[in-house]
Amino acid sequence: MAASPASLPVVALRWRNARLAILDQTVLPATETWLELDGARDTAAAIARLAIRGAPNIGIAAAYGLAMQVALAPDDDDVADAAQVLKDSRPTAVNLAWAVDRVQAAVLAVAPRARPEVARAEAEAIHAAEDAASATIARLGADFLAGTRRILTHCNTGTLACGGTGSALAVVTELAARAELSVLACETRPLLQGARLTIWELRRAGVPHELLVDGAAAGLMRRGEVDAVIVGCDRVAANGDVANKVGTYAHALAARAAGIPFVVAGPTSTIDAAIASGDEIDIEERDADEVRHAGGTLLTVPGTPCRNPAFDVTPAELVTALVTERGIAAPPTRASVLGLLAVPFGRQSDAA
Ligand code: MRU
Repeated sequence: MAASPASLPVVALRWRNARLAILDQTVLPATETWLELDGARDTAAAIARLAIRGAPNIGIAAAYGLAMQVALAPDDDDVADAAQVLKDSRPTAVNLAWAVDRVQAAVLAVAPRARPEVARAEAEAIHAAEDAASATIARLGADFLAGTRRILTHCNTGTLACGGTGSALAVVTELAARAELSVLACETRPLLQGARLTIWELRRAGVPHELLVDGAAAGLMRRGEVDAVIVGCDRVAANGDVANKVGTYAHALAARAAGIPFVVAGPTSTIDAAIASGDEIDIEERDADEVRHAGGTLLTVPGTPCRNPAFDVTPAELVTALVTERGIAAPPTRASVLGLLAVPFGRQSDAA
């Protein structure tokens, strides 16, 4: 008997025989198409068009992309060029530069002939650490939100975005495994990561859910139909300000007005201690056609000028808790966020 869809695990990327393959997220959920990548340039292109996306998975894919390129051209200049091509693919998610810099540093510390092996090992170590982080985030987040029955989430933060079973969505599936839970998933215009990807993952996980337009969330919170909001993060500043998918800030404001928890979940690889506040975060502005169209259909008058910031910043004071694999900062402040980075990997602070 074929496994029921609910039990089929989701896999976003595969690293086999030193080659990276990704599940093309631009065509989900209609089709499951795997793309074989072979170097830094096409990995960067896949990241830029969101065939692979989500801060942690962007980092993992970029690390593998650099490893493949180092195997082809291990000299210093080639490595530096490949690293820059990858880092230029998208600006906001800190995991991209974090992962590329880590692989590049490891590679430049050894002789060229040893570099392919070192690059591959570093990329695999990043992947393994993000997988492990996801499991801890799921457990700590579900403990923190114990008793939640109706949760709202935005964008996609599952396996398609992150190692393991995700970040915020890993907390959601853990809560659902522990007790009855229903999920409100925002569609997440303009690229519909919620409607296309989160719904696809929740359906496969067998978690009860409903889809809503982004603008409906605040009203449902005000009417008392939501117990808590949980989202991911693309870059967390040292003071706890959080950059995440555009629309997140509005949910944080509505959650505060409704008096319900607004929780952010993500691995510590997404904390950028080098920036003091969210005002320093580079917000990606994407192509206007993403706003003018949906599913290939023109929604407005041809050529209409558009704004398309892909992310926004939620100030720390609106965040109830930042859940990471090294513990929880509740509330996130400079001290509690940087405190998390001081916790050795594999351990959790008891700050919360
Ligand atoms: O533009 P995307 O789809 O890459 O944006 C993704 C998000 O904003 C996610 O919420 C974030 O990366 C966290 S993923 C665990």
